Amino acid sequence: MRPPLCLIGAGVIARHHATANRNLPGGPRPLHVTDPVPASLSAFAADHPEATVHATVEAMLARPAVAGEIVVIASPPATHHGLAMAALASGRNVLVEKPIAVSAGQAAELVAEAARRGLQLHECSSRYLGYRTTLAAAELVRNGGIGRPYRVRWIQLSNRGRPGIEYQPRSRWFLDRSASGGGVGLDWAVYDLAALCAVLAPRALTVVAAWTRCPATGVVLPPGTVFDVEHHIGAEITAELADGTLVSVAYERASCCHGAERSEAEVAGDTGSVSWQWLPWPGERMWIEHRFDVRGALVTERREFATLAELESHHRPLTALDAVLAGRPAEPMGGARAASILAVVQAIYATAADRCQRTIAIAP
Ligand SMILES: NC(=O)c1ccc[n+]([C@@H]2O[C@H](COP(=O)([O-])OP(=O)(O)OC[C@H]3O[C@@H](n4cnc5c(N)ncnc54)[C@H](O)[C@@H]3O)[C@@H](O)[C@H]2O)c1
Repeated sequence: MRPPLCLIGAGVIARHHATANRNLPGGPRPLHVTDPVPASLSAFAADHPEATVHATVEAMLARPAVAGEIVVIASPPATHHGLAMAALASGRNVLVEKPIAVSAGQAAELVAEAARRGLQLHECSSRYLGYRTTLAAAELVRNGGIGRPYRVRWIQLSNRGRPGIEYQPRSRWFLDRSASGGGVGLDWAVYDLAALCAVLAPRALTVVAAWTRCPATGVVLPPGTVFDVEHHIGAEITAELADGTLVSVAYERASCCHGAERSEAEVAGDTGSVSWQWLPWPGERMWIEHRFDVRGALVTERREFATLAELESHHRPLTALDAVLAGRPAEPMGGARAASILAVVQAIYATAADRCQRTIAIAP
């Protein structure tokens, strides 16, 4: 019998983890689920009749833990720390949805607790890592294909993609900082920075300057809706690489803005550059362009990769933790690295507020 998989939260992302469970290489784990909202729980059970439903987290975790068991925390971010601590205390390995927590202090506590108990603690911003384009870009940077890197442009702007409004409008909690911890910074910057760190492998990131904004639109929200999060952020970041090289990063991300939509990921080096589509959606072809000089002429080599399997990315975090527990190779987002990336997002918020620069060490 496979060790169980327990889902805390039975919303949108929980369903992706449940589908990932059906497709695990070693076969599905017995599935358990809980959610404080009975309607969410019964809707989930209708989609996943294989799941054993529990009325409370306490009831689900009261069962004796089985070696190799996994708890996925799939609830709003402000609940991640308390629920993950409870899951670790019950002797289970934990996969927390992104962001790992809503403060660096909470994240550090989780990392320490998992280490103390000898349990795995992973986070889900590994979701968009491992695409062939990003791997190829990282390899070019690592192998000197662009010379010494000195400048990154990482700019991802969408006009109307706010969770809780245009995307997943029923989950209004995304707009309420007390539940979400923040806006597009905690929703998307964690993915951007995870990918950026995978490509540059920096030992530290310094947030030199930053800003956050909430562009206004004519959308009318139901009375009483709390809406106090940002939807457009930007930062000038200096990445310090292992050999001391300093790379200037122009970073911007919006889930709402009035300017042109853009998706740019580019690393410039002194002998070449690489740009690529870092976040392909299902149906899009993935591409990467390597530009370099040959006898004074600029040469562009473009490679394209086939369409992704739909929603392959959503399966990656659970598949990786399952593999780690089975002793198979995998590239998860470990708790310590997720905690350092969360600290960079928080540095962006803090630097936007007080204009003081901050340096964050990036865990391997
Ligand atoms: N929706 C997405 O596309 C997506 C993608 C990646 C990651 N995520 C992350 O997944 C997490 C959940 O997001 P979602 O989109 O599934 O939200 P959702 O609103 O669809 O579902 C959240 C569920 O959590 C439940 N919940 C609230 N408090 C709880 C508690 N204390 N204990 C247990 N359950 C509780 C709610 O009742 C709800 O059913 C967030 O951290 C989010 O950032 C979401």
